Amino acid sequence: PEKITNICCIGAGYVGGPTMSVIAQKCLGVKVTVVDLNQGRIDAWNNEDLDKLPIFEPGLKEVVEVARGRNLFFTTDVDKAIDEAEMIFISVNTPTKTYGVGKGMAADLKYVELCARQIAKVSTSDKIVVEKSTLPVRTAEAIKTILKAEGNKVKFQILSNPEFLAEGTAITDLHYADRVLIGGDQDEEGQKAIQRLVDVYSHWVPKEKILTTNVWSSELSKLTANAFLAQRVSSINAISALCEETEADVDEIAKAIGADSRIGSKFLKSSVGFGGSCFQKDILNLVYIARSYGLDEVAEYWEQVIMLNDYQKRRFAEKIVKTLFNTVSGKKIAILGWAFKKDTNDTRESASIYVADYLLNEQAELYIYDPKVKEEQIYADLDCLNTRSEEENRELVHVIKDPYQAMDDSHAVAILTEWDEFKRYDWDKVYKSMKKPAFLFDGRNIIESNALVSIGFSTYNLGKAK
Ligand code: NAI
Repeated sequence: PEKITNICCIGAGYVGGPTMSVIAQKCLGVKVTVVDLNQGRIDAWNNEDLDKLPIFEPGLKEVVEVARGRNLFFTTDVDKAIDEAEMIFISVNTPTKTYGVGKGMAADLKYVELCARQIAKVSTSDKIVVEKSTLPVRTAEAIKTILKAEGNKVKFQILSNPEFLAEGTAITDLHYADRVLIGGDQDEEGQKAIQRLVDVYSHWVPKEKILTTNVWSSELSKLTANAFLAQRVSSINAISALCEETEADVDEIAKAIGADSRIGSKFLKSSVGFGGSCFQKDILNLVYIARSYGLDEVAEYWEQVIMLNDYQKRRFAEKIVKTLFNTVSGKKIAILGWAFKKDTNDTRESASIYVADYLLNEQAELYIYDPKVKEEQIYADLDCLNTRSEEENRELVHVIKDPYQAMDDSHAVAILTEWDEFKRYDWDKVYKSMKKPAFLFDGRNIIESNALVSIGFSTYNLGKAK
């Protein structure tokens, strides 16, 4: 058919869920089925109670509410959905490899390969397969080889359509995308496939914002975009350390340089370090690819972005210990925020995990509060590090539902996520309930430091004079 009427998406995660919900919302004539092997996740997507969706994302439940059951479906029946679809998005996770060659660097493509094999096995009609996951450049070649080798007589076109949404603003990013990128083969069949995907996005994205390229540029653009974004964070964080020594103020600098139109104002907020599932993994992947082509200088250049990020997290944790008279052993420290940024319940690679781990090594007692992250998740994140036993984690870490209770009688408060509600707390009340001196470490520079100081707090802000 000329127009796509049936889409399947493999992977109902932070990308597959929101992107497909928006496609279904905007494309009334298209049936969209999102599949996943994880029954619990699919059940959560189908939950009557929209507050129980597996992902917290502002505006998501409103979109799911209008589309679900109309032309948006969530199921674990992978094979049926694949075979019925004309276009299949692969939106599965592509974590950093934890074993074998490329361990700790390369992308683990086993889930992507499994998808390709599954598609090849069950397809009885021609398909357009769309790489939505972030993949190393030239992955489409591998997918094509598998599909060709396994698929019987069925024709496949492979497109690359990386996703640029950011968690916390996913729905707005999808509704008002800066651009949509579609890469495909340069021959006639490839161009036709590209056009079909362009037609899907054209339901709501202005034509001039839909860019088409060859597959390799598209694949590599996604890694490059994340590398550049993370590089901005590491750059401003590097300057934050220098500010603390020189009486320069990192927020003033960010404003001053951001006003330069060649630099731009976004992504210049100094912080305790970037987190999230993508930046580190995608840069490591880029570094690995560069190295595999023998481009050592290129690899080292980008690797430094990660090293600076690790430094920033460590520096913040060290600062806490040093300030608390070089010992936090047995001291109650409140941690505000566990998610890697505000407006998401995603905690993957969150700076909080590493700061907490550092403090736990120093035998601190942590009282953690986050408005959207579940207790099980916090323990799972710490257990995952294998730094200490699960019992010890449960002994030293308390997950508290009320922020005032978390801070009550504490030696110090550390703000690690920039949740808006932290700005609105009654800091006077908090101060009164804390041990003195009452220390506050603002890892996001979100609370007006002068106000806190006049209450009586001893504050530490990133990138401000000591
Ligand atoms: P996720 O882990 O939230 O979701 C992936 C889902 O795929 C999981 O629910 C998993 O059960 C499912 N899955 C894995 N193998 C499967 C298979 N063979 N059959 C069916 N389901 C399978 O991952 P997330 O965050 O959605 O990321 C997906 C991809 O999108 C990654 O490549 C990531 O780099 C990329 N990406 C992520 C962004 C983000 O903000 N999280 C933004 C842009 C791209």
